[in-house]
Amino acid sequence: MFNAETITNVANAAYVVAALLFILALAGLSKHETSKAGNAFGMAGMGVALVATIVLAINKQIEPLGLALLIGAMAVGAAIGLWRAKVVEMTGMPELIALLHSFVGLAAVLVGWSGYLHAEFNANSQGALELAKEGMLGIHSAEVFIGVFIGAVTFTGSIVANLKLSAKIKSAPLMLPGKNFLNVGSLVLFVALTVWFVISPNLWLLVGVTVLALLLGWHLVASIGGGDMPVVVSMLNSYSGWAAAASGFLLSNDLLIITGALVGSSGAYLSYIMCKAMNRSFISVIAGGFGIEAGPAEDKDYGEHREITAEGAAEMLASASSVIITPGYGMAVAQAQYGVADLTRKLRDKGVNVRFGIHPVAGRLPGHMNVLLAEAKVPYDIVLEMDEINDDFDDTAVVLVIGANDTVNPAASEDPGSPIAGMPVLTVWNADNVIVFKRSMASGYAGVQNPLFFRDNSQMLFGDARDRVNDILAAL
Ligand code: TAP
Repeated sequence: MFNAETITNVANAAYVVAALLFILALAGLSKHETSKAGNAFGMAGMGVALVATIVLAINKQIEPLGLALLIGAMAVGAAIGLWRAKVVEMTGMPELIALLHSFVGLAAVLVGWSGYLHAEFNANSQGALELAKEGMLGIHSAEVFIGVFIGAVTFTGSIVANLKLSAKIKSAPLMLPGKNFLNVGSLVLFVALTVWFVISPNLWLLVGVTVLALLLGWHLVASIGGGDMPVVVSMLNSYSGWAAAASGFLLSNDLLIITGALVGSSGAYLSYIMCKAMNRSFISVIAGGFGIEAGPAEDKDYGEHREITAEGAAEMLASASSVIITPGYGMAVAQAQYGVADLTRKLRDKGVNVRFGIHPVAGRLPGHMNVLLAEAKVPYDIVLEMDEINDDFDDTAVVLVIGANDTVNPAASEDPGSPIAGMPVLTVWNADNVIVFKRSMASGYAGVQNPLFFRDNSQMLFGDARDRVNDILAAL
C-alpha cells in the first residue's frame, strides 16, 4: 500500500513532531506548574522517535538479526530504565543522571568507532568508496574523530562524577602538578591529531585519541571540588548532548542532531546560570577547576555550640511572628518534607508568617528542594528563591535550617580563604534566632566547617530531621 519513499517521508515527519515535543518538554520543565506536562511531552516525543526509528530500519530492509537486536536492546533498556526509575531515591538522582550521561558518551564512542570500521578502516570498502565519490571522506573522518573525543571525555568524566556524588571517592579536587598544562596540552594535541586523522585516517590515531579523551575526562572532573559539582553535572549533561549530536551527523539522523543540540545548549546555559548563582567563573569550571587551588587544612577553633530540645524549639516557634525555613540535603535524606509541610500549616494556622528560602544548589540537583516541597504540597507562593528572601532575614524571629549546611555557611561571604569563598549563601545568621537540624557537627558536602553553628544566636537540634520535626509537631 505504501511505497518505501512514502514510509521514509512519514518517518521523517514523525522525527519533526518528536523534535517539537522535545522543545515543548523543555519549555514545560522550566516551571513547577507545567513540569508534569513537560515530562509527558518528553515521553511522547521519545515514543514517537523510537517507533519512527524502527519503521525506518524495517523500511531500509534491515537484516532480521539486526532488527531483533534493535528491538531486544530497546526492551532491555526500557525494563532497566523502568526498574531504576522505580527504586531510585530522590537523593540518588544526581549520581543516576551522571551515570546516564556516561552511557551517552560510551554510545558516541561506539558509533564513532563503528563509523570508522565501516569506512576509513578499509579504503576499498563500500562505505569508503561511496564517501570518497561524494567527496565527503574528510568530513566523515572529522565527525568520527570529534565524536569519539567528546564521547570519551563525557564517558569517564561522568563516571568520576557518579563516584564523587555517591561518595565512593573523595569529593576534594585532585591537584596534579601542572594540571592546567595537562588540560590545555590535551586539547592542543587533540586538534593536531584531528588534522592528522583527516589527512590520513589510521587505526592508531583513533586509539590514541580515545585514550587521550578517556584520561582527559577523568582528569577534568577529578580536578573539580565538591562545592562545584552541581555545575559539573549540568556541564556533563551538555557534553552528552554534543556527543549525541556528533553521533547524529555520523548516522545521518536529523532527530539525534536536533535533540543533541537541544540537550547540549540547554545544559551549557544551565551551567552558566549555576556558575552565576555560585559566583564561579564558567570558564574556570569547564576547564576543570582552572585557577582553583586547594586551601590549607582547617584547624580553626570556633568555640562551643549550644543545643536546644524539640520542646524548646516548639516554644520559640509558637511565640514567633515570622519564620523562615531553609531546607538542604539533610531534609531530603530524612524525607522530612511531609513533617515540614505539616509544621508550616500548623504555624500558619496560628498566624505565624512562614516562608521558605531556597538556595540554587541546595540538595544534590537543581530544583531538589522545590520538588520535595511541591511533593508535600507546600504552597508555591511561600517558597522563595535566595535572592528574593536574603534581605528579609534581619526582620525574622526564627530560622529553621533543616539539613542545610554549605548553603548557609557565613564563611562563604566572610572568609576569603574558605574553599567556598565568594559563593552566595542564605544569610540566616542575621535573624534573631537560628535552629539548625542535623545529626552531628559533621561538615556538609564541600567538607568545610560551618561557623554558623557556633554563633551566639544559633542552637543545634540534633537527630534525624524527620524525627525532630515530628517531636516539634507533637510539642506544639
Ligand atoms: P550539605 O552542605 O550537603 O549538608 C547537608 C547536611 O545535612 C549535612 O551537614 C548533614 O549533617 C545533614 N544531614 C544529613 N542527613 C540528615 C538527616 N537525616 N537529618 C538531619 N540532618 C541530616 O547541604 P546543602 O546546604 O543542601 O548544600 C548542598 C551542597 O551540595 C553544596 O555544597 C552544593 O554545592 C553541593 N551539590 C549540590 C548539587 C545541586 S545541583 N543542588 C549537586 C551536587 C552537589 P549530619 O551528617 O551531621 O546530619
